Parts: sequence; C-alpha cells; structure tokens
Amino acid sequence: MSHHSRLRRRVVLGGSALILSSPLAAALRALTPGQTVGPFYPVTPPLHRDNDLTLVDGSKVRAAGQISDLTGRVLDIDGRPLAGLRVEIWQCDANGRYRHPRDRSGLEEDPNFQGFGHTITDADGRYRFRTIRPVPYPGRTPHIHAAVFPEGGRPFVTQIYVAGEPLNQHDGLFMRVPEALRPLLLADFVAVDDPAVAFTAEFDFVLAPVLAGLFEPHTV
Ligand SMILES: [Fe+2]
Repeated sequence: MSHHSRLRRRVVLGGSALILSSPLAAALRALTPGQTVGPFYPVTPPLHRDNDLTLVDGSKVRAAGQISDLTGRVLDIDGRPLAGLRVEIWQCDANGRYRHPRDRSGLEEDPNFQGFGHTITDADGRYRFRTIRPVPYPGRTPHIHAAVFPEGGRPFVTQIYVAGEPLNQHDGLFMRVPEALRPLLLADFVAVDDPAVAFTAEFDFVLAPVLAGLFEPHTV
C-alpha cells in the first residue's frame, strides 16, 4: 500500500471536523501530547518480560479479550526514526482489572494477561506489541498507557485511545487534552481476518527534541 493511500485510509471525517490519527499526525510533524502516568504503573514483577501481553511464559492459554496487534514508530519532530529506544505499555485486562496492588476494584484478574510489556524500537523506529483491545473500567474510557525512554532524556508518557469510542467524550483525562490535539492520541483498531488477531492498530510517537535529547543543532 502506498504511503499516500495509507494516510488517506486513516483520515476519518467526524462531523465537519477532520480527525487525524497518529500516522498522519506524524506526517504533519505534530508532537504527541503527553499524559499522566496514572496510579497503575507496574510495581510487581512482570509475569513475563516481552512484547506479547496475551501469552504468559509457560502458559498455552491466551489472555481473554480481543487480541490486537499494536504497532507504530517513534519519530523525532523531523520525521526521523528513533531506533533502539525502549517502549513500554500497560493496561487493564479484559475484566477491567489492573495487575497492581492499588487496583481495589474487586474485579477478577485474568491470570493469562501480562498487563505490561516492553520492546525496543528497530532501525525504522518501529515497535510491536500483541495485546488486547483496551476495555473501559469504572471512570475511564478504554486506553493503553505507554512510555518511551529516550536516550539521555526523561521518559515520555502518554495514553493511547480508541478512535470512534463513544466513551472518549466522557473521559476526564482525554477531554483535558486540547480538542485540536486529541486526534493525536487516537489509534484506529481495524478488524482483520486472521484467526489469531482480531484487530490491528497503529500509533506513532512524535517526540520533542528536548525530550529525545539526541540531537545536535541544525546547521543551515
Ligand atoms: Fe489506566
């Protein structure tokens, strides 16, 4: 698929407003808005250290939920890929339960969901996770927490939301983002015809140079 048609496919018309999802935002070189880390950043040892949150080491049983491949790139403001950076995601399981002692929801924990994963961007700045399509829990629209660790910089932390999810309009953290920037935190979860995966989603992180801490001044 050409670069252009991919971008066109990802332009969604919502009412009269043009909603741009993150790959297009990357093309337009807009910085990804940061968001709070929230109360559920993992503090307990991970069940398994990898980028597949749906299969815990030693188990043959997949996590409950709609298996989704989340991929994308980490880019600088000039669209250059940032290779070799650690990317983390964490989210609640299909029951709405975080693998965290502060989650006192009483919801049953899915023992087959890792809750947390990490990977390293490749030479194209690309990362890949297999996880579940995020689900709502009391007070929150579906979201995936994410952190990118630039070399020599502070971690960049944000939350990835589901494009077209009606609950987004009622989510305090999502609505706190200025309206024009909200599309930069949306990922399209596209249904795929694959026995192993229900959805694919793409989300690019565009980091500010000061956070990336990698750049020499431009010479003109
Ligand atoms: Fe959360």
